[in-house]
Amino acid sequence: MLKDFFKEKSSLVNVWIKDFLEKEPSKNIIHEAITYSIFNGGKRLRPILAKTFYDIYKKNNLFDDDIKFLAIGLEFIHTYSLIHDDLPSMDNDDYRRGNLTCHKKYNEAIAILAGDALLTEAFICFSKMKSINTLKIINLISSRIGFLGMIKGQALDILNEKFSPNNKKNKFLLKTIHARKTSDLLLASIVSGAMLSNNIDEKNIILIKKYAINLGHMFQITDDILDIIGDKKLLGKKGSDLENQKLTYPSIYGLEKSKIFVSKYKKNSQNLVNKMDINLECKNFLYKLLDYIENRTY
Ligand code: IPE
Ligand code: IPE
Ligand code: MG
Ligand code: MG
Ligand code: MG
Repeated sequence: MLKDFFKEKSSLVNVWIKDFLEKEPSKNIIHEAITYSIFNGGKRLRPILAKTFYDIYKKNNLFDDDIKFLAIGLEFIHTYSLIHDDLPSMDNDDYRRGNLTCHKKYNEAIAILAGDALLTEAFICFSKMKSINTLKIINLISSRIGFLGMIKGQALDILNEKFSPNNKKNKFLLKTIHARKTSDLLLASIVSGAMLSNNIDEKNIILIKKYAINLGHMFQITDDILDIIGDKKLLGKKGSDLENQKLTYPSIYGLEKSKIFVSKYKKNSQNLVNKMDINLECKNFLYKLLDYIENRTY
């Protein structure tokens, strides 16, 4: 079952992260804030996707230590993005992963610095990889999270709060926000995992990139839906999109139509899986992953 798969893989990722953080020779308040934020639950979706695509394409176990560093770095980047996303000047959220957000537990300065440190430490992790594709992977990740990637999405998300419903560009903007703030890091995770296998051709790279973009849209639309109707306890966050008047699928299309969009992106992703040169077992697994994201409750 996929639930067991996620439990097993997220425990593995947690061991990797714990091991990395505990090895730091000197620990200070930023190290404490990082540890607090990273171990407050979290699905570990990005590292799990990287490992999944590495496992799907790999032929031998040559780079098994690399996948560990890739996984830790990706979760560091994701956690940094969440700490900054919750800040008063961003989404102003008090709860994350079932606990107080980093700036509420510590203070704003510590939260900003903890995010900065996580982003920096991520690249220390990546630099430990020995694969001949290491530089290409670092280039892919950094360009997908930089000012044309995740940061662009976050900026557009903030700049389009209190949007005018009559703006003809809303639908286009919404698609761009989701592609940049969410799909880009998921794409970087999936593609870097596959690149680490050193066994994927250009045709399949294009297919998994498109798959990742569609999966990202599915993931963020379900996040937007859950922000309104989700079980806050399960989610570990209270939901603030309505209060912040965010440009989201539910705010533009309504809840029912948003669910139809999730199905549309799922269908696109299924068609892409169909075309991948991978065995039936892997295909079935990727279909199940799509079911999981479509029906997720947290
Ligand atoms: C939340 O991501 C931010 C979005 C991009 C929607 P996740 O839902 O993966 O958060 P965690 O890591 O499980 O807490
Ligand atoms: C956050 O999107 C995306 C990134 C952090 C890049 P949201 O603002 O919707 O995420 P939540 O709902 O706070 O987890
Ligand atoms: Mg946000
Ligand atoms: Mg938020
Ligand atoms: Mg959200």
